[in-house]
Amino acid sequence: MIKRIQAWFKQKGTDHAPLELSSDNIPKHVAIIMDGNGRWAKKRGLPRIAGHHSGMKAVKRVTIAANDLGVKVLTMYAFSTENWKRPKEEVDFLMKLPQQFLAIELDELIANNVQVRMMGLRDDLPSHTIQALEEAIDKTKHNTGLILNFALNYGGQREIVESVRSIAQHVQAGKLKIEDIEEAVVQEHLMSSELPNPDLLIRTSGELRLSNFMLWQIAYSELWFTDVYWPEFNERHLKEAVAEYQRRSRRYGGLQ
Ligand code: IPE
Ligand code: IPE
Ligand code: MG
Repeated sequence: MIKRIQAWFKQKGTDHAPLELSSDNIPKHVAIIMDGNGRWAKKRGLPRIAGHHSGMKAVKRVTIAANDLGVKVLTMYAFSTENWKRPKEEVDFLMKLPQQFLAIELDELIANNVQVRMMGLRDDLPSHTIQALEEAIDKTKHNTGLILNFALNYGGQREIVESVRSIAQHVQAGKLKIEDIEEAVVQEHLMSSELPNPDLLIRTSGELRLSNFMLWQIAYSELWFTDVYWPEFNERHLKEAVAEYQRRSRRYGGLQ
């Protein structure tokens, strides 16, 4: 019966067809490259920052939806180490977004048992941005629901460099032997060391690249791209991505 209804919706070309998701194969860690805010705004004759503002609402929407689905970790690429190249006004606006977001949404995140975290180079971030995040991280540290991990001033190559430096220091201090350096050691020195690697990576806005996001961690992630601009991304899109994830066969180089 459900198959027939789905076929009917497909024929009608509507995106309201029910999606069947199996609850025992929900990706533990979903990572999202939230892209297309500027183009979303441009399409509407609005300034780019209006796109970022609207994107903030999508963050909340998708966090709640992911939590409801049973996703354990949601990593959101919010600002890359390369995004400093943008005009100062845009960067300043983006640096104020975490505060704005948390001022409006933190209570509801807490009510939903969400734990806020962040990965990225903290030193270059303005103090007001860090303070807002630290406060949210502290207030939610005992929450046991979804981990909402913001990648802010984050770059995958830089993260690997930091990991290599830290490993080298351990070797220099005599705490680690060179022959003991293996994949697990590199993983332990990454900014995401306490998290499982992403099972599913989503990128919005039609771009088919990684833009320096979690280069080590996504070695075996399933990739899902959509043309939808981030401010328009909703629960339905997330479910479509998860439905596609559930159709994939993850072989890790082996055989099924
Ligand atoms: C993503 O949207 C947000 C950030 C990178 C901070 P963009 O600002 O990159 O939007 P487009 O790609 O220009 O449309
Ligand atoms: C990637 O988007 C970074 C974030 C979403 C934070 P960009 O818009 O910066 O990526 P490029 O420049 O198109 O590769
Ligand atoms: Mg972009």
